[in-house]
Amino acid sequence: MTDLTSMRISYTRAELRRRDLNADPLAQFQTWFDEALAADLPEPYAMQVATANAAGRPSLRTVLLRGATPEGLTFYTNFESHKGLDLAANPQAEFLFYWAELERQVRAFGSIARVPDAEADHYFHVRPFESQLAAHASDPQSAPIQNREALEAKFAALHERFPEGTTIPRPQFWGGYRLSVQEWEFWQGRPNRMHDRFRYTRDGAGWRLDRLMP
Ligand SMILES: Cc1cc2nc3c(=O)[nH]c(=O)nc-3n(C[C@H](O)[C@H](O)[C@H](O)COP(=O)(O)O)c2cc1C
Repeated sequence: MTDLTSMRISYTRAELRRRDLNADPLAQFQTWFDEALAADLPEPYAMQVATANAAGRPSLRTVLLRGATPEGLTFYTNFESHKGLDLAANPQAEFLFYWAELERQVRAFGSIARVPDAEADHYFHVRPFESQLAAHASDPQSAPIQNREALEAKFAALHERFPEGTTIPRPQFWGGYRLSVQEWEFWQGRPNRMHDRFRYTRDGAGWRLDRLMP
């Protein structure tokens, strides 16, 4: 393995002060997200989702953020997947965005609930036709499959059943999860590992804001 011990960069792009932060963390997230979009980052809406099962075993994967509202942060997946089983046993999660080019990281922790059926139906049908087929084909997500051919045969059989232009029903096993955020953290890299970190925690109807040691 390559010697990694001297590979590092110094973070010099920006700083983060309390007075820069919005009192509402969702508004703060929107500001940083807009900056990530404006910077043309590849898929700034891709995030890591950490879950844990009942025994405390952690697991992590990347998904696409599909909405951020006062109700929470939403992504879509298969309810029978590894993450789906974790969330059935332990409905809390942490989301992480790392925007390397901006030297920024955002973390959100909270409890998870499924999005209402009508909303999931709507999102399912605005996805490309092939993605709708793939949602059906890829079940149970995270289970072993013999080979690529078996997966493609499943996709082809579904395509025959649902020709282009027909309405594909949303599978019962596929839908959205929404994180009701109880804690946010905004991290800005600084030189010499003296980074800026601020954490929002729920405080009655508002939020408490603390600077954290880097
Ligand atoms: C950039 C990117 C975006 C992804 N978006 C999703 C997504 O929105 N939903 C999803 O179920 N899987 C998505 N995946 C695949 C997941 O990372 C993961 O492999 C899959 O959901 C199974 O995870 P699990 O076995 O932990 O449940 C994405 C992967 C990448 C790299």
